Amino acid sequence: MPWVVRDAVRDINRTVARRWQAIDPLLPDPAALPNGCGAPLVVNDDHGRVAGLGVCVHHHISADSLNQTWGAADRFTLVPRLPGQDVEASAGLLLVQWRDHLAGVGAARGTDTSATVVWPSQDITGIQALLRHGLQPRTVIAARLRPQAPNGPRFVPRGAYGVTIRPAGPADEVQVLDLELQLIRYDMHFGGPVWRPATARLVREEIHGSLTRQATWTWLAERAGGAAGLLVAQPPEEAGWIAGMTCASPAAYLQTMFVDPAERGTGIGAALVRYLHAQLDASGVAVTLLHHSQVNPLSAPFWYRMGYRPLWTSWEARPASALR
Ligand SMILES: CC(C)(COP(=O)(O)OP(=O)(O)OC[C@H]1O[C@@H](n2cnc3c(N)ncnc32)[C@H](O)[C@@H]1OP(=O)(O)O)[C@@H](O)C(=O)NCCC(=O)NCCS
Repeated sequence: MPWVVRDAVRDINRTVARRWQAIDPLLPDPAALPNGCGAPLVVNDDHGRVAGLGVCVHHHISADSLNQTWGAADRFTLVPRLPGQDVEASAGLLLVQWRDHLAGVGAARGTDTSATVVWPSQDITGIQALLRHGLQPRTVIAARLRPQAPNGPRFVPRGAYGVTIRPAGPADEVQVLDLELQLIRYDMHFGGPVWRPATARLVREEIHGSLTRQATWTWLAERAGGAAGLLVAQPPEEAGWIAGMTCASPAAYLQTMFVDPAERGTGIGAALVRYLHAQLDASGVAVTLLHHSQVNPLSAPFWYRMGYRPLWTSWEARPASALR
């Protein structure tokens, strides 16, 4: 990276850090710009000063990774740094450069591709530019902070009538698999996950691995002896991959939440989540993060009732060539 751009990155990152903190105190400091799949995109204002930077990052997700089920196989992400004089105008100019860059990348022309910008949910500047260029709000990272006066170790979370919550073990593999696959199929309605030839096998393998561990973070809710709900979480030791999305630390991740359709609306979801929160709060976890689809009609109302709020929104064009 030429020194002019390096200096501009440092100055812009400082300004972006101040802007983000004013918008949402849970946002982290902007990370150093990653290496991209081309030269950094640079936007200048009318006086020739750098008014915005962006880097395009390309990830090819291989067919033997479960991650490929959660989105396109070739993912192009724009990492923007917009200091905030006129965010909408600079975002627009950056998106034009990004679209032109992607037009020259062979791997971005296929159908199994996506172009994504992850934008602070509370930052309403620039949304017009994202919409104008064909990006749709797809997924939200929501966050829940540990309450100020945490529940003490004797706190017993409220249960649901006739429901027992217990850690899942190796003998529960079939039930857990069934609920996990139902969740993926349900989420597919919202355009996020893609059913792959290896999806069921890879989910089974992941479940097998996690249920045979000593301390499992998978819980089942049972009613009348049958599995009615599933919750899977990652403790801070496993949630490092997403922890950098917030300045609060340590961070846990709530990975899976599913209640049997016939049992919904009877308090099972809340009982499972309160059970997890009681453990996380007692063990000093500062923040819990999760993903939910922006248009899932069940998840947003539920999560916001459970104390979560939006932190980041993923704006996506799929295929990548839908970016305009
Ligand atoms: C989201 C889901 C887990 C909720 O589970 P549930 O057992 O139906 O939820 P509960 O009955 O425990 O409801 C808990 C609270 O949330 C509220 N709530 C739940 N779903 C709601 C909805 N769609 N709209 C408004 N409020 C809702 C309930 O009214 C209840 O509020 P209360 O505490 O004031 O009574 C369930 O609908 C589900 O499995 N959906 C499909 C999978 C999914 O979307 N998972 C989340 C993926 S991120």
